[in-house]
Amino acid sequence: MNATYERPLKYAATTRLLHWLVALMVLAMIPIGIYMQTEGLPRAQQNLLFVMHKNGGVILLALVLLRLVWRATHRAPSLPASLPRWQVRAAGLTQAALYILLLVMALSGYVRVAAGGFPIEMLDAIGMPSLVPRSDSLAGVAKTIHSYARFGLIALVALHVAAGLKHLVQRDGVFSRIWPPVGGR
Ligand code: HEM
Ligand code: HEM
Repeated sequence: MNATYERPLKYAATTRLLHWLVALMVLAMIPIGIYMQTEGLPRAQQNLLFVMHKNGGVILLALVLLRLVWRATHRAPSLPASLPRWQVRAAGLTQAALYILLLVMALSGYVRVAAGGFPIEMLDAIGMPSLVPRSDSLAGVAKTIHSYARFGLIALVALHVAAGLKHLVQRDGVFSRIWPPVGGR
C-alpha cells in the first residue's frame, strides 16, 4: 500500500507487553467463565476452573488498572495521517469501551463472589478482607451484570480484533505500533 504518512512511532515496550498479556488473559477468561459452569463436569476440574477464573480475574483487574495509569501518564504514538477520521474516532471509542467493560467485568465478578461469601483464594491467602458486605441480593445483582456485560465485551473484542487484523493485512503501520510485545523502541 502506498500510504502517505509520517513513519508512526510504536507504543512503549511496557504498553505493548501489557496489551498482549491482557489480551491473552481476556481471551482465556471468557471461554473459561462460560465452560466452567457446564453441568456434569468432574468436581475437581470444575473447582480448578473456578479457582483459575476468579484469581485470574483479580490479576486482570490489577493489570487493567496498571494499564490505565500507564496510559494516562504516557502519550500514545500518533496515528498515520492517511487514516480516515472516522476510523481514528471509532478506534478511540472502542478502546475506551474495552477498558470500561473490562473494569465492569472484573469488579462485578469480584462483588458477585465476595458478597456471595465464596473464597477468592489469592486474596484470602494474603489476609485481604472482603471489600463488600455479605449479601445475597448484592451478589445476585453483580451476577446479572457479569453475565450481561460479557456480550458487550465479546462484541467489542471481535470488533477490535477484526480492525487489528485489517491493519495487519493492509500493512499501514498501525499494527506494528502495538507489535512485537517486547524490544524495539
Ligand atoms: C482481546 C483482548 C484485547 C483487548 C482488551 C485489547 C485492548 C486494546 C486497547 C485498550 C488498545 C489501546 C492501546 C492502549 O490503550 O494501551 C489496543 C490497541 C491495539 N490493539 Fe488491542 N486488545 C485486545 C486484543 C487485540 C488483538 C488480538 C489484536 C490483533 C489483531 C489487537 C490489536 C491492536 C492494535 C493494532 C492496537 C493499536 C491500535 C491503535 O493504536 O489505535 N488487540 N488494544
Ligand atoms: C475481566 C475479567 C473477567 C472476565 C472477562 C470474565 C468473564 C466471565 C464470563 C464470560 C462468564 C460467563 C458468564 C455467564 O455464563 O453468565 C463468567 C462467569 C463467572 N465469573 Fe467471571 N470474568 C472476569 C472476572 C471475574 C472475577 C474477578 C471473578 C471473581 C473474583 C469472576 C467470577 C465469576 C463467576 C463466579 C462466574 C460464574 C457465574 C456466576 O455464578 O456468577 N469473574 N466470567
